[in-house]
Amino acid sequence: MDTHHKPAPNDLSAYWMPFTANRQYKAAPRMVVGADGMHYKSDDGRDILDGTAGLWCCNAGHNRPKIVEAIQKQAGEMDYAPAFQMGHPKVFELANSLRDMAPEGLEHVFFTNSGSESVETALKIALAYHRMRGEGQRTRLIGREKGYHGVNFGGISVGGIVNNRKFFGGLLGGVDHMPHTYLPEHRFIRGIPDTGADLADDLERIAQLHGPETIAAVIVEPMAGSAGVIMPPKGYLQKLRQICDRHGILLIFDEVITGFGRLGAPFAADYFGVTPDLITTAKGLTNGAVPMGAVLCGSHIHEAFMQGPDHMIELFHGYTYSGNPLASAAGVATLETYREEGLFARAAELAPYWEDALHSLRDAPHVVDIRNLGMVGAIELAPLPDEPTKRAFDVYLKCWEAGCLIRTTGDIIALSPPLIIDKAQIDQLITTIDDALRATA
Ligand SMILES: Cc1ncc(COP(=O)(O)O)c(C=O)c1O
Repeated sequence: MDTHHKPAPNDLSAYWMPFTANRQYKAAPRMVVGADGMHYKSDDGRDILDGTAGLWCCNAGHNRPKIVEAIQKQAGEMDYAPAFQMGHPKVFELANSLRDMAPEGLEHVFFTNSGSESVETALKIALAYHRMRGEGQRTRLIGREKGYHGVNFGGISVGGIVNNRKFFGGLLGGVDHMPHTYLPEHRFIRGIPDTGADLADDLERIAQLHGPETIAAVIVEPMAGSAGVIMPPKGYLQKLRQICDRHGILLIFDEVITGFGRLGAPFAADYFGVTPDLITTAKGLTNGAVPMGAVLCGSHIHEAFMQGPDHMIELFHGYTYSGNPLASAAGVATLETYREEGLFARAAELAPYWEDALHSLRDAPHVVDIRNLGMVGAIELAPLPDEPTKRAFDVYLKCWEAGCLIRTTGDIIALSPPLIIDKAQIDQLITTIDDALRATA
């Protein structure tokens, strides 16, 4: 890895950092200046093992040559193409590759620039779909407690993370929430729990409360990531699908985290054998290298829009950077990398080793639960009395000092390494966390 780098500016005040304790960070900044494979390079020249694939996005590891070259080549050929009433070959190529990778029946792709935009897009498509079919009374959207669907208004309205909602006013009307699926009896279970599928019946209750004919869509993360890794009980997603089918409600899977191999299958929809009407993606779509998201859309939905005069725009929605050439080139190269290196199958093969490694921390100090699925892990800690989140963040800082990047959400350590991680690196990550836990009050 090239260690030659410019020092960071002395003045860190202008940049208002997202989801960051700005004052704390700027008092003791953690700066990364390079990346390669499984590692970041810190500004003091240390290799930092990436236990989180950046922010759940660099599934193929960092600075992969094929992706880097594709972006460089595209930047030299054509920087930008108008997204409306105009196209370029790469974006069609990427849409076709995505369709080929997607669960059967999801045959159309709408491009966005982030997970949040994918969520807004999917919610809007759902509402417009019903209206196109003469069911404009279906205006209600159903989410779930602890759900994370990005940070825009639709996403925080259907989302269920309190701090992401409570500062921002009244949000969208006509939204209701199902209960989350984490039960006390699920502690230390490996993989998905056997109990709790009945929690899906709450959707039937909500449907009867409001009138099923008023509900447009239900959105869930098949496995909730950002709230601290919460599993769907066995049979739960199947039940949601059945209730949606019974009442003509669209089912949206938010696969911004679970898409592109995280569970050892292309999508969580494949992993669980449940096909939703729409899938939202981002992150792993370009391996994090250029911002991009996509909504995968069932043919039945797309067909509903393809009516009326040919010269009319069918969906009044889109972004200046939808299908941006650099992002499209990165996406095509990323999907090729996943395919050529068999990374989804690799994730499935590694998952049992990963599971054992995670659960070896069961008796480490402060640990009150461990959860795992595919190449995702969560280690939940008992919070310090009166100081929630502080203990986990102390562990995070100790791991950083010891050369590993982990992520914390509340008092939960969430892990999602690039799918190229090897067994020795898994051991290093787990040992580092173990040491940090033992050294933390
Ligand atoms: C399930 C889910 N949906 C949406 C988002 C938002 O994505 P972005 O930060 O790219 O807007 C995230 C981000 O972590 C996510 O995990």
